[in-house]
Amino acid sequence: MNALVINCSPVRNGATAEIVGMISSAIAGKYDTKSVCIDDYTFSFCKGCRSCHKTAKCVQKDDVDLLMNEFENADVIVCVAPSYWADIPGQFKAFVDRVTPWCNTHEPHATIPSGKRGFAVALRTGPNMPECERLIGSIEHFYGHLEIECTGHLGMVSVEYKEDVEKYRDQILALCEKM
Ligand SMILES: Cc1cc2nc3c(=O)[nH]c(=O)nc-3n(C[C@H](O)[C@H](O)[C@H](O)COP(=O)(O)O)c2cc1C
Repeated sequence: MNALVINCSPVRNGATAEIVGMISSAIAGKYDTKSVCIDDYTFSFCKGCRSCHKTAKCVQKDDVDLLMNEFENADVIVCVAPSYWADIPGQFKAFVDRVTPWCNTHEPHATIPSGKRGFAVALRTGPNMPECERLIGSIEHFYGHLEIECTGHLGMVSVEYKEDVEKYRDQILALCEKM
Protein backbone atom coordinates (compact mmCIF):
# COMPACT_ATOMS: atom_id res chain seq x y z
CA MET A 1 0.00 0.00 0.00
CA ASN A 2 1.23 3.48 -0.88
CA ALA A 3 0.85 6.85 0.82
CA LEU A 4 1.36 10.29 -0.69
CA VAL A 5 1.99 13.21 1.67
CA ILE A 6 1.86 16.62 0.00
CA ASN A 7 3.46 19.80 1.28
CA CYS A 8 0.93 22.26 -0.19
CA SER A 9 3.21 25.18 0.74
CA PRO A 10 6.03 26.36 -1.52
CA VAL A 11 8.33 26.47 1.55
CA ARG A 12 10.49 23.35 1.71
CA ASN A 13 11.84 23.76 5.25
CA GLY A 14 9.06 25.48 7.18
CA ALA A 15 6.26 24.40 9.50
CA THR A 16 4.32 22.58 6.78
CA ALA A 17 7.41 20.61 5.73
CA GLU A 18 7.98 19.72 9.40
CA ILE A 19 4.45 18.28 9.67
CA VAL A 20 4.88 16.42 6.36
CA GLY A 21 8.11 14.90 7.73
CA MET A 22 6.45 13.89 11.01
CA ILE A 23 3.55 12.22 9.22
CA SER A 24 5.81 10.50 6.67
CA SER A 25 8.03 9.04 9.43
CA ALA A 26 5.04 7.91 11.49
CA ILE A 27 3.41 5.98 8.64
CA ALA A 28 6.58 4.73 6.92
CA GLY A 29 6.27 1.31 8.60
CA LYS A 30 2.74 0.85 7.29
CA TYR A 31 2.95 2.34 3.79
CA ASP A 32 5.48 2.91 1.04
CA THR A 33 5.44 6.63 1.66
CA LYS A 34 6.31 9.39 -0.79
CA SER A 35 6.36 13.04 0.23
CA VAL A 36 6.30 15.80 -2.35
CA CYS A 37 6.18 19.59 -2.32
CA ILE A 38 3.80 21.48 -4.56
CA ASP A 39 6.83 23.51 -5.65
CA ASP A 40 8.45 20.35 -7.10
CA TYR A 41 6.02 20.79 -10.00
CA THR A 42 5.80 23.43 -12.69
CA PHE A 43 2.41 24.07 -14.23
CA SER A 44 0.29 26.87 -15.62
CA PHE A 45 -2.98 28.24 -14.36
CA CYS A 46 -6.29 26.83 -15.58
CA LYS A 47 -7.47 28.88 -18.55
CA GLY A 48 -11.14 28.28 -17.74
CA CYS A 49 -11.75 27.20 -21.35
CA ARG A 50 -13.87 24.18 -20.33
CA SER A 51 -12.42 22.03 -23.15
CA CYS A 52 -11.93 19.34 -20.51
CA HIS A 53 -15.70 19.25 -19.93
CA LYS A 54 -15.99 17.75 -23.42
CA THR A 55 -12.69 15.87 -23.74
CA ALA A 56 -11.69 14.96 -20.15
CA LYS A 57 -8.25 16.34 -21.07
CA CYS A 58 -6.50 19.64 -20.51
CA VAL A 59 -5.30 21.64 -23.51
CA GLN A 60 -2.07 22.30 -21.58
CA LYS A 61 0.70 19.75 -21.05
CA ASP A 62 2.88 20.18 -17.98
CA ASP A 63 3.62 18.67 -14.57
CA VAL A 64 -0.02 18.34 -13.50
CA ASP A 65 -0.02 14.85 -15.02
CA LEU A 66 3.09 13.93 -12.98
CA LEU A 67 1.40 14.87 -9.72
CA MET A 68 -1.82 13.15 -10.76
CA ASN A 69 0.23 9.98 -11.42
CA GLU A 70 1.24 10.15 -7.75
CA PHE A 71 -2.46 10.38 -6.81
CA GLU A 72 -3.14 7.34 -9.02
CA ASN A 73 -0.46 5.30 -7.25
CA ALA A 74 -1.44 6.24 -3.69
CA ASP A 75 -3.96 4.44 -1.49
CA VAL A 76 -3.80 7.20 1.13
CA ILE A 77 -3.34 10.88 0.30
CA VAL A 78 -2.51 13.51 2.91
CA CYS A 79 -2.65 17.19 1.95
CA VAL A 80 -0.94 19.51 4.47
CA ALA A 81 -1.72 23.18 3.81
CA PRO A 82 -0.81 26.39 5.64
CA SER A 83 -3.18 29.32 5.60
CA TYR A 84 -2.11 31.95 3.10
CA TRP A 85 -4.58 34.82 3.37
CA ALA A 86 -7.12 32.59 5.07
CA ASP A 87 -7.10 29.96 2.34
CA ILE A 88 -4.92 27.26 0.77
CA PRO A 89 -1.71 28.61 -0.85
CA GLY A 90 -2.11 29.87 -4.40
CA GLN A 91 0.26 27.26 -5.81
CA PHE A 92 -1.94 24.47 -4.46
CA LYS A 93 -5.15 26.22 -5.55
CA ALA A 94 -3.70 26.53 -9.07
CA PHE A 95 -3.12 22.76 -9.04
CA VAL A 96 -6.67 22.08 -7.81
CA ASP A 97 -8.08 24.21 -10.65
CA ARG A 98 -6.02 22.22 -13.16
CA VAL A 99 -7.48 18.96 -11.82
CA THR A 100 -10.82 19.91 -13.41
CA PRO A 101 -10.43 17.19 -16.12
CA TRP A 102 -10.79 14.68 -13.23
CA CYS A 103 -13.75 16.47 -11.61
CA ASN A 104 -16.85 14.27 -11.39
CA THR A 105 -19.34 17.06 -12.10
CA HIS A 106 -19.05 16.70 -15.88
CA GLU A 107 -19.10 13.81 -18.35
CA PRO A 108 -16.77 12.66 -19.67
CA HIS A 109 -14.21 13.12 -16.95
CA ALA A 110 -10.85 11.48 -16.27
CA THR A 111 -10.71 9.15 -13.26
CA ILE A 112 -8.26 7.80 -10.75
CA PRO A 113 -8.86 4.34 -9.25
CA SER A 114 -11.57 4.25 -6.55
CA GLY A 115 -11.18 3.32 -2.88
CA LYS A 116 -8.61 5.94 -1.94
CA ARG A 117 -8.70 7.60 1.48
CA GLY A 118 -7.75 11.23 2.08
CA PHE A 119 -6.67 13.27 5.09
CA ALA A 120 -6.77 17.07 5.36
CA VAL A 121 -4.30 18.95 7.59
CA ALA A 122 -4.28 22.74 8.00
CA LEU A 123 -2.09 25.13 9.99
CA ARG A 124 -2.01 28.83 10.58
CA THR A 125 -0.23 31.48 12.65
CA GLY A 126 -3.39 33.11 13.99
CA PRO A 127 -5.17 31.75 17.07
CA ASN A 128 -8.63 30.79 15.84
CA MET A 129 -9.63 27.39 14.47
CA PRO A 130 -12.41 28.43 12.02
CA GLU A 131 -9.79 29.60 9.50
CA CYS A 132 -8.19 26.14 9.58
CA GLU A 133 -11.65 24.60 9.13
CA ARG A 134 -12.05 26.67 5.99
CA LEU A 135 -8.86 25.19 4.51
CA ILE A 136 -9.92 21.70 5.59
CA GLY A 137 -13.23 22.35 3.81
CA SER A 138 -11.37 23.31 0.61
CA ILE A 139 -9.29 20.12 0.72
CA GLU A 140 -12.37 17.99 1.48
CA HIS A 141 -14.19 19.60 -1.45
CA PHE A 142 -11.27 18.75 -3.72
CA TYR A 143 -11.18 15.13 -2.48
CA GLY A 144 -14.95 14.82 -2.89
CA HIS A 145 -14.90 15.63 -6.60
CA LEU A 146 -12.11 13.06 -7.11
CA GLU A 147 -14.16 10.53 -5.11
CA ILE A 148 -11.43 10.27 -2.48
CA GLU A 149 -13.09 9.60 0.88
CA CYS A 150 -11.86 12.09 3.49
CA THR A 151 -11.41 9.99 6.62
CA GLY A 152 -9.60 12.38 8.95
CA HIS A 153 -8.49 15.96 9.46
CA LEU A 154 -6.50 18.13 11.84
CA GLY A 155 -6.25 21.89 12.29
CA MET A 156 -3.34 23.58 14.06
CA VAL A 157 -3.34 27.20 15.21
CA SER A 158 -0.54 29.45 16.51
CA VAL A 159 2.01 27.80 14.22
CA GLU A 160 4.40 29.95 12.22
CA TYR A 161 7.78 28.23 12.19
CA LYS A 162 8.82 24.59 12.32
CA GLU A 163 9.70 24.91 16.03
CA ASP A 164 6.01 25.60 16.73
CA VAL A 165 4.92 22.18 15.45
CA GLU A 166 6.28 20.11 18.36
CA LYS A 167 3.34 21.02 20.62
CA TYR A 168 1.05 19.21 18.16
CA ARG A 169 3.12 16.02 17.97
CA ASP A 170 0.59 13.92 19.92
CA GLN A 171 -2.35 15.11 17.81
CA ILE A 172 -0.39 14.51 14.59
CA LEU A 173 0.55 10.99 15.70
CA ALA A 174 -3.08 10.31 16.72
CA LEU A 175 -4.17 11.30 13.19
CA CYS A 176 -1.49 8.99 11.75
CA GLU A 177 -2.97 6.11 13.75
CA LYS A 178 -6.12 6.45 11.61
CA MET A 179 -4.15 6.19 8.36
C1 LIG B 1 1.76 34.80 2.07
C2 LIG B 1 1.38 34.35 3.45
C3 LIG B 1 0.08 34.58 3.89
C4 LIG B 1 -0.31 34.16 5.16
N1 LIG B 1 -1.60 34.38 5.57
C5 LIG B 1 -2.00 33.93 6.78
C6 LIG B 1 -3.35 34.10 7.22
O1 LIG B 1 -4.19 34.64 6.51
N2 LIG B 1 -3.69 33.63 8.45
C7 LIG B 1 -2.79 33.02 9.28
O2 LIG B 1 -3.18 32.61 10.38
N3 LIG B 1 -1.51 32.81 8.88
C8 LIG B 1 -1.10 33.25 7.67
N4 LIG B 1 0.20 33.05 7.26
C9 LIG B 1 1.11 32.32 8.14
C10 LIG B 1 1.25 30.84 7.74
O3 LIG B 1 0.01 30.16 7.74
C11 LIG B 1 2.18 30.14 8.75
O4 LIG B 1 3.37 30.89 8.91
C12 LIG B 1 2.57 28.74 8.33
O5 LIG B 1 3.28 28.14 9.37
C13 LIG B 1 3.45 28.80 7.08
O6 LIG B 1 3.93 27.53 6.80
P1 LIG B 1 5.11 27.37 5.68
O7 LIG B 1 6.25 28.22 6.12
O8 LIG B 1 5.38 25.92 5.72
O9 LIG B 1 4.51 27.81 4.38
C14 LIG B 1 0.62 33.48 6.01
C15 LIG B 1 1.94 33.27 5.53
C16 LIG B 1 2.31 33.68 4.27
C17 LIG B 1 3.72 33.41 3.79
